[in-house]
Amino acid sequence: MEWGMKNRLSQLMPNGRCFFMPIDHGYFQGPTRNLEKPGETVKPLLPYVDAIFCTRGVLRAALDPLTSKPIVLRVSGCTSMVGEDLANEELTTSINEIIRVNAAAVGLSVFIGSHYEKETLKNLSTLVNLCEDYGIPVMAVTAVGRELEKREARYLALSCRIAAELGARVVKTYWCEEHFDKVVNGCPVPVIMAGGPKCETELEVLEFVHDGISKGAAGINLGRNVWQSPNPVAMAKALRTIVHDNASVKQAQEIYNKEAKGKK
Ligand code: 5RP
Repeated sequence: MEWGMKNRLSQLMPNGRCFFMPIDHGYFQGPTRNLEKPGETVKPLLPYVDAIFCTRGVLRAALDPLTSKPIVLRVSGCTSMVGEDLANEELTTSINEIIRVNAAAVGLSVFIGSHYEKETLKNLSTLVNLCEDYGIPVMAVTAVGRELEKREARYLALSCRIAAELGARVVKTYWCEEHFDKVVNGCPVPVIMAGGPKCETELEVLEFVHDGISKGAAGINLGRNVWQSPNPVAMAKALRTIVHDNASVKQAQEIYNKEAKGKK
């Protein structure tokens, strides 16, 4: 691996682990709860995360260019919650713009098994071809659109492997209760867990993240379960310790409780 690629990946994933904070939800679902003002939402969380995942629009409008926090730029889109098919995405951002905003990596969604499987996989291979020339890693997001039932190991393993085969340097996918180890072991590049809609309790989140890390995931890309929590900083601290310090669920819960109590 050449210097630039290695340097970007090591900033994004110190010691091979990572906690990315996605604030890209608006690109298809508009002003999501607690993300109406993404700059304000993310500010107190910055010390605890390794990178921010956002579009160029939010980057320009809401994030301080003086930040040293690496940016993973969301570069796919052009669909919406109220449109016909979430899977019908295009590449949204030129390589010039990716370089201009100093992105440490880029992310795009692939919709395997959908009507737009081929188009979104073509988006991935085109992006890899463009970004590899500049040493910029591509993170593929294995998206399921509205078909949440697809979040099972066989489908996720298939999707992650295909994304890696096409050149993604990192793959983001969903955790699943059964056989998540097969998803990770079948993928030759690091697998990062997505969050999904807000869980009922903090414990539920800590448990699934701990399980995924213990089965070989390299990290997390968790948004709503952090910034929709009643205690976002406590949640970020608790998750960080599982990802970077191999903390147990109990230790992480204690960190959450202490931080949340201190806030009251
Ligand atoms: C959507 C994405 C988002 O970055 C991610 O899913 C949002 O995170 P969360 O689900 O944890 O709120 O890639 O496809």
